Amino acid sequence: MREEVSYGYKKILPSEKRRLILGHFDSIARNYDLADTLLSFGMHFYWRRRVMQRLKLKPGQVVLDLCAGTADFGVLASRVVGPRGKVVVCDISRLMMVAGQEKAARARVEKRIHWVQGDAERMGFDNEAFDAVIVGYGIRNFVFLEQGVREIYRVLKNGGKFMAMEFSIPKTAWVRDLYRLYSFKIMPVAGKLITGTAEPFYYLAESIRVFPTPEQIRALLTANGFTNADFERLTNGFAVLFYGEKREKL
Ligand SMILES: C[S@@+](CC[C@H](N)C(=O)[O-])C[C@H]1O[C@@H](n2cnc3c(N)ncnc32)[C@H](O)[C@@H]1O
Repeated sequence: MREEVSYGYKKILPSEKRRLILGHFDSIARNYDLADTLLSFGMHFYWRRRVMQRLKLKPGQVVLDLCAGTADFGVLASRVVGPRGKVVVCDISRLMMVAGQEKAARARVEKRIHWVQGDAERMGFDNEAFDAVIVGYGIRNFVFLEQGVREIYRVLKNGGKFMAMEFSIPKTAWVRDLYRLYSFKIMPVAGKLITGTAEPFYYLAESIRVFPTPEQIRALLTANGFTNADFERLTNGFAVLFYGEKREKL
């Protein structure tokens, strides 16, 4: 029997999950940024700032924005690494990156960004190519999470840093109940009004709930070689930052 993987509450074939995820993001690409801002009540700006604070990038560094979508992190990183640095934006959805290219041009950082259409679980980049890898709301969509984590470790330089931001479940019980109502009843309807389709938002609500706990992700990072792997809950746990470093003894 062929192996099935979780796709929200369903179990489906890996190839089918890849196809559905790509379809979702292609279909909402034009309105993704608006949906992100409205549906997170603008909180994602603060969460992204926290990622950048923790990452402490330096001018001249080479950074990968993986599962980059419309390249919010790529644009933020390119401002810090400056003209001597380089940012590679990588996503499976060309349409998401096209929306990001317009944003990079508006921010006047397009010359520092290289755009690569590719799969995070099988990247074409060399070993030890990047000082930092940032993944914004991406690891939850991996078909094989551990394979993606190994790939991230492989492309990081020794001393390089990994930072992922993900949606999660709030800590406080009543907030969690309210959030359940919001994510299954309100978000898909609002998402459809903004993007024209509700399906990606049902998937979003379910996928957050079947994703491993922050403690399990920390253990997975540690098991796959990351040093100082840990997490930080933001806004009562609506979002979680995961981080780790590659520190190999030479
Ligand atoms: C929720 S969006 C996040 C976009 C952006 N990182 C942000 O912070 O807003 C997730 C993105 O991951 C991309 N993605 C999903 N699975 C991927 C994979 N295996 N490899 C590369 N990109 C992937 C999707 O196409 C989509 O653009």
